Order: sequence, then structure tokens, then C-alpha cells
Amino acid sequence: MAKGKSSEDSGLSEAQIAVHWKEEGYVYPSAQFIAQANMTDPAIFERFSLDNFPECFKEYADLLSWYDYWHTTLDTSDAPCWKWFVGGKINASYNCIDRHLKKHKNKAAIHFVPEPEDEAPAVITYQELYVRVNEFAALLRDFAKLKKGDRVTLHMPMTPELPVTMLACARLGIIHSEVFGGFSGQSCADRIVDSGSHVLITIDSYYRNGKLIDHKVNADIAVKTAQEKGQKVDKVLVWQRYPGQYHSKSEPVKGRDFIVNDVLKKYRDARVEPVKMPAEDPLFLMYTSGTTGKPKGCQHSTGGYLAYVAGTSKYVQDIHPEDVYWCMADIGWITGHSYIVYGPLALAASSVIYEGVPTYPDAGRPWRIAERLDVNIFHTAPTTIRMLRKAGPDEPQKYNYHFKHMTTVGEPIEPEVWRWYHKVVGKGEAIIVDTWWQTETGGFLCSTLPALQPMKPGSAGPAVPGIHPVIYDDERKELGAGAGKAGNICIRNPWPGAFQTIWGDRDRYVSTYYARYCKNKKSKDWRDWPYLTGDGALLAEDGYYRILGRLDDVINVAGHRLGTKELESAALTVPEIAEAAVVPVVDDLKGRVPDIYVSLKPGVKSGNDAQAKVTKAIEQEIGKIARPKNVYVVPDMPKTRSGKIMRRVLAAISNTLDIGDVMTLANPDVVEEIRVLVQGKKKVATKKGPEDIARFGDDG
Ligand code: WT7
Repeated sequence: MAKGKSSEDSGLSEAQIAVHWKEEGYVYPSAQFIAQANMTDPAIFERFSLDNFPECFKEYADLLSWYDYWHTTLDTSDAPCWKWFVGGKINASYNCIDRHLKKHKNKAAIHFVPEPEDEAPAVITYQELYVRVNEFAALLRDFAKLKKGDRVTLHMPMTPELPVTMLACARLGIIHSEVFGGFSGQSCADRIVDSGSHVLITIDSYYRNGKLIDHKVNADIAVKTAQEKGQKVDKVLVWQRYPGQYHSKSEPVKGRDFIVNDVLKKYRDARVEPVKMPAEDPLFLMYTSGTTGKPKGCQHSTGGYLAYVAGTSKYVQDIHPEDVYWCMADIGWITGHSYIVYGPLALAASSVIYEGVPTYPDAGRPWRIAERLDVNIFHTAPTTIRMLRKAGPDEPQKYNYHFKHMTTVGEPIEPEVWRWYHKVVGKGEAIIVDTWWQTETGGFLCSTLPALQPMKPGSAGPAVPGIHPVIYDDERKELGAGAGKAGNICIRNPWPGAFQTIWGDRDRYVSTYYARYCKNKKSKDWRDWPYLTGDGALLAEDGYYRILGRLDDVINVAGHRLGTKELESAALTVPEIAEAAVVPVVDDLKGRVPDIYVSLKPGVKSGNDAQAKVTKAIEQEIGKIARPKNVYVVPDMPKTRSGKIMRRVLAAISNTLDIGDVMTLANPDVVEEIRVLVQGKKKVATKKGPEDIARFGDDG
């Protein structure tokens, strides 16, 4: 990080950065794929060129049904809070359900696959989804007294009640904020407080790894913690994994907790008119990690977001109504919102929701599901691909399924892993799209349009239609195609899927994403406001982008972002801990995992259970997903003379990389002490690591 810049800035100080795998050749789609593809017209790139911006996005908006057409495609008057399709009125629930009933009411909207294999998959048709969403919307309106603009927090796992809840909220214009089911009650509380939710929607239990997990207990923690932090939750609505049965050791609190399946009886056959929402009203919040402790509530719009996910689902995911589409992500992340729920359902696809872990009860499970449901579009993350390859490299060929299309998302995929995905999972028949994007961006930024652009293992691809990236170095100089140097990848232009702001914190929105490369802070011209993604990237001669990873203090674990500051503050809740520093370590399966260095308060003896306590605190405050690989108790942190912890040095030690010159530190001797503690006495490494690690926490 360059001196004097805010901690939310990303940093890149060396001009030439080593990339850790070589440029690959092209792999072409089959004639069979091209023959059936939704987008085969190369003129699309011209139509979505900057010359035709912003009107080009009408093509996506026209995939939807509008109550009122918009008068202004892009309103920049409140830059950089962009407004799309202003004047337009639309409802997301109507677009994902009602409008399909005429042709598709008896078609599967959702295939729910429970984790226990002896529990049969359940089909929810569009008609059935319509009924459930309407009844639950009536409950939200008349029983929970929620209305347009209210926020409601959902803490739900992968069962159909989650999309039913989201779509019922959307029907009424209630802003849903779903918290990943695996997050702790405390994490949920922070999001309840930040969003100002008075209602929490949860479920009693769900299956994970062969166990029926008690989930309701998290709601009790969430409500209690939120109350302590000043936000009162009046009602907790509890779905049941098995309607009519309650599986939780937490007694429902009288007057606060309500079993949804009981209350719903009152609303049998209720129908709720979808609320005609202004296009730019928020549809949902999705919290994500930043470089400071507090998660950011990314606010997504109704019209722009839905248009963008429908367009990219149609042309990048190549979804047709006849397809059986399975995205194995969790709906608790943006991938699930955009590409399990809103995008596919807007296109009347059949979307698969699998409750459990991919390797339960064995590594053949995903392929049995694919065979049974005849899935033909498959979507997952590199971390899962690596895990499935490790656990069952020959499993796919044992099952009779055929994918036409596969997606990878969330982190860079190594060419070697890409090839296994292509050859073994895809049986050499399926095309692959590597999709690069973020919670903030709502939908894809870079990928290949599968029938028009060849794949290149290890590269996400060119920008998708209507997205115009630019790579800047630290001096704001553009690094062009074939420059051979990596830099900060930004997007030149706004697009309809982009988040509108950080909930309740416009200043942080501007400073995190726009301040760095803004050309004129007073300008109302979008050209002056490039969007900073925080990723490092390299642009090859052919216009394909290779994404190298985060350049800020964010660790991408298994395709999901964890802020180091969040982990550090969780560690600091342990009374014995004086200081904590978190760094990423390369992990064969998860990509990156956190290592934590802690120092103890004076007088605390090492050898007590500080390590176990830190791990437990992190699980409790954030969730198991953030569990550190190692917790090292060190005598002192390596520090600059001004007292800043040198995380880069610790990252080098954790990854056995070249530590570089430490003589300018205030306490250079401690570095070798820590190195021996972590690596043993063997010789010091000299190699340079992947750039996100080599540059981690760099302060120039
Ligand atoms: C960060 C965003 C995208 C939805 C899921 C994660 C990294 C994402 C790729 C990719 C290389 C990728 C970036 C990005 N990332 N996709 N295809 N290749 N890196 O969303 O939690 O907001 O994380 O994930 O570093 O900034 P997220």
C-alpha cells in the first residue's frame, strides 16, 4: 500500500510482477454446442461497445416484463451512485414466477435435493412456487407487518424455503438480507444491526455432512447479540426442515418466535399483488468483507440487477427454459442470489438446490445427482473442483450424465485443475466459462461468450458485453494489452448489475471503490469514475484477462472473501491476546486459508490454551469457514519503526517465501525467531510467491 493512502485502497508497487503459471492455448466449443447456443451473433460486441453505452443495456432489460417502461436509461446526477432504468416500474417476484405460469406452470422451477440420499428429490413447479411465495408474502405483510422498504434478515441454509422467502420479500418490495447459513449467530447479529432489521427469518434445522444441524440456536444468539448492540428483533419466523416437526433444543420464545408452518395455515390460498417497484429501489443487501472490520452491505437494485442477471444467465450461462441447471454455490452468497435464484428463474429455467456438502456420502454424489435429474448445466468453484478431484478423480465416468456447459467462479483456476474439469467432469463435451466478478458487481464482469469466444485455461476471458475494463498501475498509467505487467483492474463504465451503494455508508462506498482513480470528484460524468475492483490482473495481447487475486487485506478462502481485520478482531476477543495479525497461506484445496499470528499480554504464560481459544473465538464470531490453518504464538510482531505490523513478512514466513530485507524494521531479530518457530531451522527460502501473497499488506 502506498504511503498516505487509506487502508481500503489496494496496493501494487512493483512494476513487473511474476505470474505463476504460463499462458495457455485456446480450447474451442463444439459445433453441437454452438448450434443450440442462445448467443451466436458476433455483432453483440459492437452493440455493447462504449459508443452505444448506456442504451445497449435495453437489450437486457427487454428480457423482463415491466409495468412501466423507463424514461432514462442511466441517470448519473448523483455520481457515483448510478441509477438505471429510471421511471421504470417492475417486480422481481412477478418476473421470476407469475409471468411464466401461462406457458410453464407445470414445469419444475426448483429441484430440491436433500442431503440424505434416501430422501427423494422434491420438485417445485412454477405453480407451486407461485402458491408458496404468495402465501408467505401474505404472512410477511399481514402477520409480520412488513412493508416496502423494510429490511429483513434471513439466516437460512440451502432449502427451498430460502428462495420462497426471498421471492416473497421481493413481491412486497421488502429488502432481504440473507446471511450465509454457515455464519455464526454473532455474524448474523452484526448484519441485523447494520441493516436495522426487526424481523429475522430462519429454520429449525438442516442437514450437513450427515448430521441434522440445530440452526435455531443461532437465532437466539443473533437476537440477543443484536439487542445488546441496540437493535431489537420483534419477531423470529422459524421454518421447519420437516413441516410439523421441530428439531431444535431451543424452546421457541413466546411472543417472539413463530413457527412459520403453523402461522401459514391462516394464509392458505392467499394471493398478494406484486408491488410495482421503481427500478432503482433496492431488492436486497448482501454483506461482504472489506479491509476494515465491518462487513459492507452491498445494496442491489431491482430493475438494473434483474436485467443484468437475466442477460448474463441467458448469454453466458446459456440457460434455456428446457435446461436443468445446477449451481452448487450457496444461496447465502451473491453467486446463489444471481445464478441460482434470480437469473435462472427470470428465464423460467429449472434450478437445482442441493442441501448438503458435495462429498456426502462420497465423491460420487454430485454425479449421481446430475445423472438422476439429467442436469446439463453445471456451475461450481475451483475449490470444490479440487476437492472432488482429490476425493474421487475417476468418479464422474461412472455416471451417465452429460453437461453441455460448466462454470467456474470465485477464484483463479489452475490450468491443471481446469483440464480435469474439462476432460473428466465435462467428459470433453462441455464448454467451460470462467466467470470473474464480485459481490459488488451483481453479475459477471469477465468471461467468454461460450459460442463466440474460445476458452483459455487460467484466464477468465475478455470482458462480457457492456463491461469495459482498464488496468491501471499505481501512477494511474494504463497498462494495455500485452504490456506484460499486472496492475489494478478497474471498470471504466457503470453497468446495471452494479451495487448502488454500501447500505448506510455512502462515504465508504465512494472511498473504497472510486476515490483511487477518480478523475474529478465533482464530475457527474461516468467517464471520470472508474470502479476499483481491488483485484490484480494482467491483460494478454488477445484481450483475455488473467485475474491474479486480491491486492488488499482480503483473503479469498474457497472462493469467499474474509477481511483480515474481521479475523483479527475476533482473535482479540480472547482476553490473553495482545496483538493479532492474519495472513493468507496457499492451500491445495481452498486456494487461500488464514494463518494467525498472536502475541500474548504481559504476564500471560505461553503454553496455555491460547491457540485453541483463538480458533474457537473465530468460529464463534464469524463461522467455521474462517477457521485458521495455524495459530502461532509469537514473542512480538515484526513492526516498522512507526509501529505498523508487517503482515507481508509474516505472509512470506507462512508460505516459505523470500522474506526480503527486514533491516529497517524496529525489531529485525524477531523475524528470524518467528521463522524458526514456523519453519524450523532449515534454510531460508528465496522464491517469490503468487502476487497476492508477495504483495500482501505491502506498504510500499
Ligand atoms: C473476489 C470476489 C464472484 C462471486 C463469488 C465471490 C475473486 C471471483 C474469480 C475468477 C479469479 C476470482 C476476485 C474477486 N474471484 N471470481 N473467476 N477468477 N478470481 O464473490 O466473495 O465478492 O469475491 O473473488 O478476487 O474480487 P466475492
